[in-house]
Amino acid sequence: MDMELEAMLRPPETPMEPYPPKVITLATGAKMVVRQVNRSAVPILLKAVRPTLDIPRDYYDVVGARLYAELLGWYRYRVRDEFCLIGQVNGYLTGIVNSRLYSPRTCISLHTLSLERGLRIGAHLFAAKMEYPLEYLGIEEVLITAESPIGFRRWMIEYGLEPREGQHELGGADYFGLTREIYFKSKDRLVAGERPVPPDLLEEAEAEIKLRDTGEIREKIVGAKEERR
Ligand SMILES: CC(C)(COP(=O)(O)OP(=O)(O)OC[C@H]1O[C@@H](n2cnc3c(N)ncnc32)[C@H](O)[C@@H]1OP(=O)(O)O)[C@@H](O)C(=O)NCCC(=O)NCCS
Repeated sequence: MDMELEAMLRPPETPMEPYPPKVITLATGAKMVVRQVNRSAVPILLKAVRPTLDIPRDYYDVVGARLYAELLGWYRYRVRDEFCLIGQVNGYLTGIVNSRLYSPRTCISLHTLSLERGLRIGAHLFAAKMEYPLEYLGIEEVLITAESPIGFRRWMIEYGLEPREGQHELGGADYFGLTREIYFKSKDRLVAGERPVPPDLLEEAEAEIKLRDTGEIREKIVGAKEERR
């Protein structure tokens, strides 16, 4: 590789305080560890996202494809200041969220993908990706757009986000801002979790990101809802 040219193609990296992991007790009583991962986790995360690429239900395909590209771009040093948090129960991956810092004041929310349904896993992970920049990185506002009706209900309506003028980086629908003020007003209601994570739980999560096989991932995303129809 021509490292001189490569150095020009790689975006600069803003140092970020690490996100302190937390544990959330889900409605089933299961303990979900929420933690930050670095680039080395990307190949396994891509494997988890791949089965969503052909699930049109609830826009999993669109969100999965975009998340896949963003994670790969981060892995190959082509996206600036991205961060990624994951949820794990008993080591198994339950969801992925990512964002990127745009400036010392502003963070761009990218994607939220829940690999299990009906437990607000996506909502909890979204809350964590707001908590990180607003509470730990000194960011004033996170910019958010939605690609799915469930996403719109979860973010714009549940948080009461403020509409903003112009376009979001994702180039989709009108976008909204989550300011520090809105975040702290919603925090008790929407941001869950305890710290520190008990050492055995954290060790289990960090030891391995376990994945269900493709059929199981699919079943967990569409199965329960399909049966209810
Ligand atoms: C948006 C998303 C992250 C929300 O995750 P979540 O908070 O865990 O919520 P779920 O998707 O499990 O459930 C959302 C609603 O649909 C219902 N639901 C949908 N599919 C379900 C299923 N298979 N089993 C049980 N409930 C289901 C839930 O009961 C819930 O209802 P509620 O809003 O009244 O609580 C998740 O739906 C997702 O990953 N969607 C695809 C990608 C996406 O749209 N991302 C956001 C882009 S803006």
